Amino acid sequence: LKTIHVELKDRRYPVFVGQGLLGHAGSLLRRRGFAAAPVIITNRRVFRLHGPAVLQSLDKAFGRAPVIKIGDGERFKDHSTLLKIYKALIRLHANRKSWILALGGGVVGDIAGYAAATFMRGIPWVMAPTTLLSQVDSSVGGKVAINVAEGKNLIGAFHQPSAVLSDTNALRTLPKRELRSGLYEVVRSAAIQSEPLLCYLERKLPGILSVRSREIEHVVVEAVRIKAAVVESDERESGLRMILNYGHTIGHALEAATDYKKFKHGEAVGWGMIAALEYGSELGLLGVDQKAQLIQLIQRVGPLPSLRGISVESLWDSLMLDKKFSSADIRMVFLRKLGQAEIRTRIEPASLRKFLQRFLNHQQRSEPRP
Ligand SMILES: NC(=O)c1ccc[n+]([C@@H]2O[C@H](COP(=O)([O-])OP(=O)(O)OC[C@H]3O[C@@H](n4cnc5c(N)ncnc54)[C@H](O)[C@@H]3O)[C@@H](O)[C@H]2O)c1
Repeated sequence: LKTIHVELKDRRYPVFVGQGLLGHAGSLLRRRGFAAAPVIITNRRVFRLHGPAVLQSLDKAFGRAPVIKIGDGERFKDHSTLLKIYKALIRLHANRKSWILALGGGVVGDIAGYAAATFMRGIPWVMAPTTLLSQVDSSVGGKVAINVAEGKNLIGAFHQPSAVLSDTNALRTLPKRELRSGLYEVVRSAAIQSEPLLCYLERKLPGILSVRSREIEHVVVEAVRIKAAVVESDERESGLRMILNYGHTIGHALEAATDYKKFKHGEAVGWGMIAALEYGSELGLLGVDQKAQLIQLIQRVGPLPSLRGISVESLWDSLMLDKKFSSADIRMVFLRKLGQAEIRTRIEPASLRKFLQRFLNHQQRSEPRP
């Protein structure tokens, strides 16, 4: 068991990473000071795979924990699911002393965390992330949110969990595409902050992709350390935390331009990083060899869905709708070298648009015809 502390003054909390942690959730959380059973929020699929171990362990420590199951998928991260959660909490006579255990990936974490942030003006919650993406990224930092028709994560809050339990064994049941999607985020974290982690990924990729215990644990621990350090220095995303958006500006636009149907979030970030590397290299920020080295790693993580059929107009329209994007002062994250990021301000819109046109043309031409 490894413990990384997210140091946020009065809201300091531990991220536990280890194999088989879900089977010890009860005793671990009892030691953290919780006295009664939580309300578990999860989805059917995750509950079928990992619910019994969690329930049994909570049962021993606290007695029976009630379970609220939500639909599986991004489209359920919305206000009608949220309302169902509030109503279920009220039916269960939850009160200000209740707490929530979110068991699942980023979707469950984001909506259960938002429910915890708002129910009775805020109750504690613990996240037990079961996807690689949620273990290395969304479970750390306290950003919780739901989607509305006008955009993703537009309604949200900062509500730090009281603890995070990342059981790396849970990743063994994860579909391979989901695993790879999380791994692109690990590459992102390494690219902006840690050359040693990049080298480790290059050396151990096969072991990581087959979820070998030692390798996957190392990767989760290191990625959590990076995310925790960035969040500690900029909890509310006013400055440094923006470097976590590396690959995300263009990544988000790709997801939006394809109606969130074609790419997993991590895959879009994979493409976003490749685009940022190419653009950064055109701007003279990163050497050609380093660019090629990182693109090769991204491609080794797995096949990225094709960019065919995506027009520069749709990509540009989506960029302009991004809540983090302001056409008056376009900011983007680039690499100065591998393991070191830099925020560039005042990017010329016309230059970025021309680059995107070239990038799409080039990628679409070099793809094999279907
Ligand atoms: N809060 C943040 O800081 C933050 C950061 C990044 C992403 N996010 C959010 O995270 C969400 C994406 O999260 P995700 O990629 O984890 O997707 P997800 O929660 O939809 O999970 C992906 C799929 O894997 C299944 N699954 C989960 N754990 C499993 C397991 N152990 N075995 C088998 N199947 C399992 C889920 O049921 C789902 O079908 C998005 O909504 C995104 O906005 C939030």
